[in-house]
Amino acid sequence: MSTIQERTIGDLVAERPSRSRIFEAFGIDYCCGGKRTLLQASGTAGIAVEQLVRELESQPAIAQDRDWREAAVAELIDHILVEHHDWLRANLPRISVLAEKVVRVHGGHAPVVVRIADVHSALRQEMEPHLEKEERMLFPAARHLEATGEVLLGCHAVDSLEGPIGVMEHEHVAVGAMLDELGSLTDGFRPPEEACNTWRAFYDALAELDRNTRAHVHLENEVLHPRIRRLEAAGRAS
Ligand SMILES: [Fe+2]
Ligand SMILES: [Fe+2]
Repeated sequence: MSTIQERTIGDLVAERPSRSRIFEAFGIDYCCGGKRTLLQASGTAGIAVEQLVRELESQPAIAQDRDWREAAVAELIDHILVEHHDWLRANLPRISVLAEKVVRVHGGHAPVVVRIADVHSALRQEMEPHLEKEERMLFPAARHLEATGEVLLGCHAVDSLEGPIGVMEHEHVAVGAMLDELGSLTDGFRPPEEACNTWRAFYDALAELDRNTRAHVHLENEVLHPRIRRLEAAGRAS
């Protein structure tokens, strides 16, 4: 049994998703950076590991916390679709509208908002086809694998789903880098004092995009993809 310091950030958040709030508060990436141990991540963030352990151990369990590693793959995918894909489809266009308004009014005297709008636009262009690929290829393949033990991609039998998983994880890294950039351009999603209500709503929506997407990528990288790999391995062993 490994100690909490030797466990990975991804594993700790998978066990209890509300721990993501603690990692967010300390600026520790738990989605694409989820493979690091607590000890490694604390060192990189310049925080004493004992302090993080204290925070994690004193956090009360909350009712909505669910360890998705124990759910059926089909149920996990349904949850990702509703909480994350549907959320993005509703909110990426809404954030683009806010971005256009803020750039039109403030872009001339605050050029940073033009840069922020550009990064959001690039993130949207990366994310929308990414959702399509998951929904058309990887998710149906994962549901089919769980139901039948067969590894099919589209209608073709394949040796493994490692190829599409690798593409999805590569795209997650790109999205994670864009979220990092949005966080630094907005000073941690804190609007300046002179910001009008639309500017504040824009930053607020970007902060929610950051939270929702990090939870989304975490569930796919740390829970769904390992489950698919285990189902494939079980199929090969039988
Ligand atoms: Fe997704
Ligand atoms: Fe994804």
